[in-house]
Amino acid sequence: SRTQIGIVGAGPAGLMLSHLLARAGIDSVVVDLRGRREIEETHRAGILEQDSVDLLAGTGVCDRVHRDGHRHDGIELAFGGGAHRIDFQGLVGASTQLYPQTDVFIDLADARERDGGDIRFGVTDVSVDGLTSDTPAMRFTDADGTAHEIRADFLVGADGSRSLCRREVPQARRTQYFREYPFAWFGILAEAPPSAPELIYNHSPRGFALISRRTETVQRMYFQCDPAEDTAAWSDDRIWEELQSRVGANGHTLKEGPITSRTVLPFRSFVQEPMHHGRLVLAGDAAHTVPPTGAKGLNLALADVRVLAEELERAVASGDTAPLETYSERALGRVWKAQHFSYWMTTMLHTLPEATPFDVRRQEGELAAVTGSTAGSTYLAEAYTGWPEGR
Ligand code: DHB
Repeated sequence: SRTQIGIVGAGPAGLMLSHLLARAGIDSVVVDLRGRREIEETHRAGILEQDSVDLLAGTGVCDRVHRDGHRHDGIELAFGGGAHRIDFQGLVGASTQLYPQTDVFIDLADARERDGGDIRFGVTDVSVDGLTSDTPAMRFTDADGTAHEIRADFLVGADGSRSLCRREVPQARRTQYFREYPFAWFGILAEAPPSAPELIYNHSPRGFALISRRTETVQRMYFQCDPAEDTAAWSDDRIWEELQSRVGANGHTLKEGPITSRTVLPFRSFVQEPMHHGRLVLAGDAAHTVPPTGAKGLNLALADVRVLAEELERAVASGDTAPLETYSERALGRVWKAQHFSYWMTTMLHTLPEATPFDVRRQEGELAAVTGSTAGSTYLAEAYTGWPEGR
């Protein structure tokens, strides 16, 4: 069969793109190896930039983000024995919205179902082919064992950080940029009341901790750990002791409760350039991964597809691949700014395993320079709340 755009990956990038294309009268088919439940049950980040909120609510996905989301006008940076607020509203007149990625996914999957979108969850044997021909193909086997080949005008790899699609770009035609980090995050969900009104990014000699939230009764927290850490070795008591000692260094105390989820999240910075090859384009984590500090991953994926939908409209109308190159150039400007911001937040706040007392005191000096200066705080506020399009 045929479609205009074949999309591999039904995460937020693939589903949002399919939604935006449908609004422009362009057909797409989206496939994903994972089942819908499996995606819904994977806990991810929780912070949306204003532009991400606008994309969800302003393009008719749904307005639940306004009802169930919580506006955050700042964050706290805790270090050196005290806490320092970064006032987003006061510095840049912007806010962020606490609204978990799983809810973004549910809203998008529901909207595509409501609007008759063709989304195939739980398929197997996905492959893409004929990328440099005029009729590239997406192949897969659906949940009841039927093999399909769908010919398309263009293909999109929105298939996440372990992307199959990006591997189809010949080595000679792409550059991959990597950076590994010698730490990870131990992420938990706890049944407890919120400990603070805003997010706390906590630097301490024992390592970083992030106090986030989900609802009035469920909280999300992370603490820096070894990438090989075994979650089974951590009782609730041990986790609370570690978190309390890190935030206690800066005068905070957490409200405790039963821990209902524990996962280790790897850290890595990655970009593949360009974000197109023949009639294939890459979007979201398939093209770039950021470490989680600063919550840029989902926002970058949504920013990619906002630009990609525009350029694919041009490509479909002209039958030409030039707009795919324009997409890659437009998207990469933001990608590298976000790469820097995520790297900077990460290295400023985490303790390296071999850190010397000098390294820790130097980080405290950096944090004092940022929080003590309007110029320093304004950069953080601007980057955290998101760069307006084209800037
Ligand atoms: C969350 C995750 C982040 O990486 C971050 O910087 C802020 C919040 C979260 O899951 O709530």
